[in-house]
Amino acid sequence: DKEEDNIRLKAKFDIGAAVTNRELSSAQYANTLRTHYSQITAEFEMKMAHIWKGENNYDWAAADEMVNFAQTNNMKVHGHTLVWYSSFPNWFKSANYDSAAFESRVKTYIERVVQRYKGKVVSWDVANEIFNDNGTLRSENCPVYQTFRDPIAFYGRCFAYARAIDPDAKLFYNDYNVVLASGKRGAMRQLVNRFQADGYPIDGLGDQFHYMVSTNRNTIRNGLTDMAGSGLLIHISELDIRVNVNREDDYVYLPSEQAKHAEAYRDIVSFYESIPQNQKFAITTWGVADNGTWLRDWWHPKEYPLLFDDSFQKKRAYNGFLEGL
Ligand code: XIL
Repeated sequence: DKEEDNIRLKAKFDIGAAVTNRELSSAQYANTLRTHYSQITAEFEMKMAHIWKGENNYDWAAADEMVNFAQTNNMKVHGHTLVWYSSFPNWFKSANYDSAAFESRVKTYIERVVQRYKGKVVSWDVANEIFNDNGTLRSENCPVYQTFRDPIAFYGRCFAYARAIDPDAKLFYNDYNVVLASGKRGAMRQLVNRFQADGYPIDGLGDQFHYMVSTNRNTIRNGLTDMAGSGLLIHISELDIRVNVNREDDYVYLPSEQAKHAEAYRDIVSFYESIPQNQKFAITTWGVADNGTWLRDWWHPKEYPLLFDDSFQKKRAYNGFLEGL
């Protein structure tokens, strides 16, 4: 590929993809990844429940495999995610620890994981999805909320535990709907202010960007500009754009639909380009080819949200992404 035909070569920031070890075993997949991306995120292999099998029982096999692939291929790894309500292991939740016991265990977990991948995982989502869209703290099913009187201070200490082990790793707070929900952005800004006032480290903010072709573009642009007002690194961390917005069983991804899809990618990438250069971190797509997307389970089997088709051919969406750069 020439520079103007390849998103990795053309971009002045990292191009990431969520990957799974299962997919990595396909040569075609691995080649596509190496050619077009400079950074990977484990789609699930580095989440707490996948690593932390018991208090002193860590299963590193899958995460190691992924990190080794990145090392061999000169790619960066973005770690996802240290603390996420949805990935506390069952053994941990059923122990019903008090706040001191809870924190000492999570501290050890963070230390062991960050230590193992120090210098190899160059950035971490330390906390993921702690707020509701209206800016209140997520309470339902959230072990942290249910345990701590001041959850934000607990998260601040988690960032500090990670920083103490690997001072070079960039530390992110990650959430979804950030550019759409001003309440959530306000809460994130308050979190940043509080961390900075209290001396807790934070380097960046991520918005997952699971959006649709129909998502209002001005809202996205204004929200992104507002996020960048934090002065921190900004990560589009899980980008996919749904085309089958009404979950139609007879949906067809016609050329006209593909063209709209390409425009959505172009616009999002160009909005990202317009934030200050020193705040650009990466755009990460949540998958590589449509056949691997989580949205075919979670949203609708007829969904085509990514940059490559089921046979790893570049889609018009890929060219839209290129045009936005
Ligand atoms: C999803 C993965 O894509 C699935 O394979 C897994 O089963 C569940 O998690 N927000 C996040 C990601 O931060 O970790 C989620 O990933 C998608 C939503």
